[in-house]
Amino acid sequence: MAATSQETQSAATDEETSVLKIWGRKPLSGCIPISGAKNSVLAILAGTLLCPKQCRISNVPSLADIGKMCQILRALGVKIERNGDALEIDASHVGSDRAPYELVSKLRASFFAVGPLLARLGSARMPLPGGCAIGARPVDLHVRGLQALGAEVRIEQGVVCADVKGRSGRLKGAKIYLDYPSVGATETLMMAATLAEGETTIYNAAREPEVVDLASFCGAMGAIIHGAGTNTITIVGVPELHTVDYPIVPDRIEAGTFLVAAAITHSELSIAPVVPDHLTPIIAKLREIGPQVVIDAPDTVRLIPSELRATDIETLPYPGFPTDMQAQFSALLTLAEGNSVITETVFENRLRHVAELSRMGADIRVKGQNAIVRGVHGLSGVPVMATDLRAAAALVIAGLAADGMTIVKGLHHLDRGYDNIEQKLRNVGAHLERVKVPTERVDNLADSAEALV
Ligand code: UD1
Repeated sequence: MAATSQETQSAATDEETSVLKIWGRKPLSGCIPISGAKNSVLAILAGTLLCPKQCRISNVPSLADIGKMCQILRALGVKIERNGDALEIDASHVGSDRAPYELVSKLRASFFAVGPLLARLGSARMPLPGGCAIGARPVDLHVRGLQALGAEVRIEQGVVCADVKGRSGRLKGAKIYLDYPSVGATETLMMAATLAEGETTIYNAAREPEVVDLASFCGAMGAIIHGAGTNTITIVGVPELHTVDYPIVPDRIEAGTFLVAAAITHSELSIAPVVPDHLTPIIAKLREIGPQVVIDAPDTVRLIPSELRATDIETLPYPGFPTDMQAQFSALLTLAEGNSVITETVFENRLRHVAELSRMGADIRVKGQNAIVRGVHGLSGVPVMATDLRAAAALVIAGLAADGMTIVKGLHHLDRGYDNIEQKLRNVGAHLERVKVPTERVDNLADSAEALV
């Protein structure tokens, strides 16, 4: 079966641009289905390069980022077919060690393929990555870790060139200390170490659920990995991995986004399937803000609304509060009683949604990495521009609570990480619609918003 539409279509053509119209203040009710975790799929797709046989991953959402990752793997020689929510992947012949710049520059996670490529082929050529515009996002921790595993790494004209030294053609197990618990570096190095000679230990490893999902996937292929989910991961290298059929965990960030949508619209909403443990920091903050969050079943969480109170939030590596939920909570706190301080510590340029929320009537001031939010009584619908994936989600959430019609532009960001978000929200009572407008009119939608109704 062909790839699904969100994987292949962009949110825009040259002549036309899609925008999302949201008529706010509609109460929501019911249950929203949660898709598989985008960040798990991206890492696991890189991990399929380790498998010399066919494998299958299921519960794969239809997302632009996943479409891009598939394109990169195909450029390396991997065959991928979509079959419903599953991807059938045949990496038996990886014909190239060189990922194309035009694809890698659009997706930072594609860089994570450097580890498995190196482990499988003994060499990798990876252009320095792009991705969300949320900071510098270097790859020094990936590179230093690969060097510790015995790779020779140099950067030539913006391309990371990595080669395995020595006659065995295999990386060598090592003790690696990460200066920071980087998700991507932990994943790159864990994958590289699965086929290395001997034992590797990663200290100060990332503990995110997506790291654990990747470790489970590799384990199901025969890799020996202990400690994933703690800050010390040990990998005992094996000569070869085998085929696997693996379901992806539910997306905790998509789940959190819908819980915030429920809270801001004062709606009772359930979400399922989820792993409630993965939502611990999100649920804790929601409860501090006011709503009750109830775990109805091992895979179902329900939000019962209440008045909203201010709180402080600081983003941190897991199990701290996720940076990927910061923008959505910023939107929520604009309508909470009192003053909140939001501190972004993970990425240096991730408060760009603030300017757009202010245009909707929010009272937020940015000082360095802090946003000081003074709760207001209401937001107003205006045309707003999404600047990155989670900023897009924050604007949709704000639009659901705003008076009048919000028009969200920059939907290619939203489509990177949310599978069918309009339909999911419409099914629980939201009033929103994606429309195409002539590109030349997009910048002046404020003047012509009425014409779009
Ligand atoms: C992953 C997630 C992203 C999430 C982030 C933090 C994927 C595909 N993306 O991104 O959604 O927001 O984790 O939870 O899984 N850093 C360095 N050097 C490095 C690597 C990272 O300085 O070699 C810095 C980054 O610039 C950033 C911080 O470490 O400031 C965290 O980055 P990292 O955990 O690596 O995030 P990603 O893996 O890129």
